[in-house]
Amino acid sequence: MQIKRIGVLTSGGDAPGMNPCVRSVVRTAIYHGIECYGIRRGWNGLITGDVIRLDEKSVSHTINRGGTILYTARSEQFMTEAGQRKAVSTCKFLGLDSIIAIGGDGTFRGARALSKYGINVIGIPATIDNDISCTNYCIGFDTAANTAIECIDKLRDTMQSHERCSVVEVMGRHAGFLAMYVGLACGATAVLVPEHPLSNEELIEKIRQARLNGFTHYMIVVAEGAAPASEVAKVIKDATDIDPRVTVLGHIQRGGSPTARDRVAATKMGYLAVELLVAGKTNRIVCTHVGGFIDIDMDEGLATKKSMQLMEVEVLSAMTGLGH
Ligand code: F6P
Repeated sequence: MQIKRIGVLTSGGDAPGMNPCVRSVVRTAIYHGIECYGIRRGWNGLITGDVIRLDEKSVSHTINRGGTILYTARSEQFMTEAGQRKAVSTCKFLGLDSIIAIGGDGTFRGARALSKYGINVIGIPATIDNDISCTNYCIGFDTAANTAIECIDKLRDTMQSHERCSVVEVMGRHAGFLAMYVGLACGATAVLVPEHPLSNEELIEKIRQARLNGFTHYMIVVAEGAAPASEVAKVIKDATDIDPRVTVLGHIQRGGSPTARDRVAATKMGYLAVELLVAGKTNRIVCTHVGGFIDIDMDEGLATKKSMQLMEVEVLSAMTGLGH
């Protein structure tokens, strides 16, 4: 079947790099003589028909912009059969034969549901959590990590001057990939992630060992899904003579101009998504794998949970000279 009209949307939590990805989808589609429509506000836009025609010009000057020009949402209505049927009617009414959905695993579950009604779908992974198991890399992770690192470097300056302990909460409701990466890059004393829980005793022991090793300031990085930073600070305060300062980085991590890595990944993935449709493929996720790009069946891609490499936990321990 020849692809005539593609709809592109961003859904779930926004991620820096979504705009260059939309831009790439639009420009590649036009290159192939395919019309492109932007669906606004995620899957909700497909239910309500909130769409705009996108041409080359409409995505000019977006490659460097954070956020998403298409807006985003987490749609509860689209999770229902009634919502999906409405979305299918919109596709039929507007002549959209294909949808490219940019987002996380919730976004892909939506895309998979739509494909059951005969719409061609391709998913592009974009989430600062980098927690989609079938791909090494998700658009937005690098920018978010660099934002968090910049903030923590600043915190370190003042923590070092006052010989204090900082507990920094990094995003990641269900995943600690961002926290672990940032912790490694910032030389954290300890990193708390949902995948490898650390007991209160183990945490206190790490700080105690760091003090014995001559450290006078301590950086504790916590993924929001592991524990609230305020609770972690209380545990430290109750068990030691240290009075930690708490910083919750929050949504600042989701903003900002995308890094070169995110712009390039977004541009390549957007291009590949359109190429897959042109090649007659559907229900696929564009992924990175051993340095290159592949595509994987959506059911397969959603079937497993991403696991954290034990190596990262070990490297972190070695860096602080604390052993296991
Ligand atoms: O999925 C990305 C993410 O930023 C998570 O790290 C975080 O827990 C969540 O979104 C926050 O979502 P919201 O936009 O609803 O505050």
